[in-house]
Amino acid sequence: MTSLTLQAPAKVNLTLDILGARPDGYHEMEMVMQSVSLCDAVTLDLGDPGGIRAESGLHFLPKDKDNLAVAAALAFREAAGQDWQDLRITIQKEIPVCAGTAGGSSDAAAVLRGLNTLTGAGFSPQELARVGEAVGSDVPYCVLGGTALAQGRGEILTPLKPLPPCHIVLCKPAFSISTPALFREWDKQKRRLRPDTQGAMAALDQGDLVALGRRMFNVFEGVLPSQQRREIEGIKTALIQAGALGAAMSGSGPTVLGLFDREDLAQAAADRLKETYAEVFLTQPV
Ligand code: C5P
Repeated sequence: MTSLTLQAPAKVNLTLDILGARPDGYHEMEMVMQSVSLCDAVTLDLGDPGGIRAESGLHFLPKDKDNLAVAAALAFREAAGQDWQDLRITIQKEIPVCAGTAGGSSDAAAVLRGLNTLTGAGFSPQELARVGEAVGSDVPYCVLGGTALAQGRGEILTPLKPLPPCHIVLCKPAFSISTPALFREWDKQKRRLRPDTQGAMAALDQGDLVALGRRMFNVFEGVLPSQQRREIEGIKTALIQAGALGAAMSGSGPTVLGLFDREDLAQAAADRLKETYAEVFLTQPV
């Protein structure tokens, strides 16, 4: 048996825009993505008898191929033309579940990276990202990580200049949102606020956190049911009043992120939000 433990970082969206619906049922996206220091730990025990399964200690997470980590292992085995039968994937969850922060996709990406090392398959990071495409739209980004523009379904990735040193507060309200339902709502609505993606990329290029903060926006915020939208707006306002340079919902939500240049303000904002919300995290870009 060979074993390996990997970190699986959460991702946030600094911007999220939808350019249109596609004939294949997906949507054409344009998103500025960032990985952050909040991580799951994923341990692979290759050869541990019992088939390919995922264990997390969370009863509501599937153990079989409905878990993205297991789906990634199956996709990897097929792409590599290998025939091993036994893999125990142990996931120590720190990233909130169903939160718009790619926890499941990041676990899947960690499985791909880990199996590449353990089996000596020799895929390049780009090849590994391609293996992840079939597993989920965010998996290719999670394989590569860092600061990137994601286009297409999310699989066309262009690395961007890393964020200058900063602090990102994450706050997840208690409700959960169905990603397909949110896309369907976007399909129905006509007038939409959109992020300035080009402006955000220019701000990143110049290392200008203030200009970046002003351009953070997620098009899904405009199509949320009104009660959820009010709660998201409330968290964004609290973050801005606490000194955030910008705030937006991440992915299909409901996690909200606030961008800070000062750690003391970020810490104070996180402490304040913890009075109301159970899942609040102070992170840095990675
Ligand atoms: O690829 P993934 O399984 O993460 O996508 C979940 C759902 O989100 C898809 O079934 C689809 O309804 C929607 N989606 C989309 N366009 C994308 C990514 C996801 O419509 N680019």
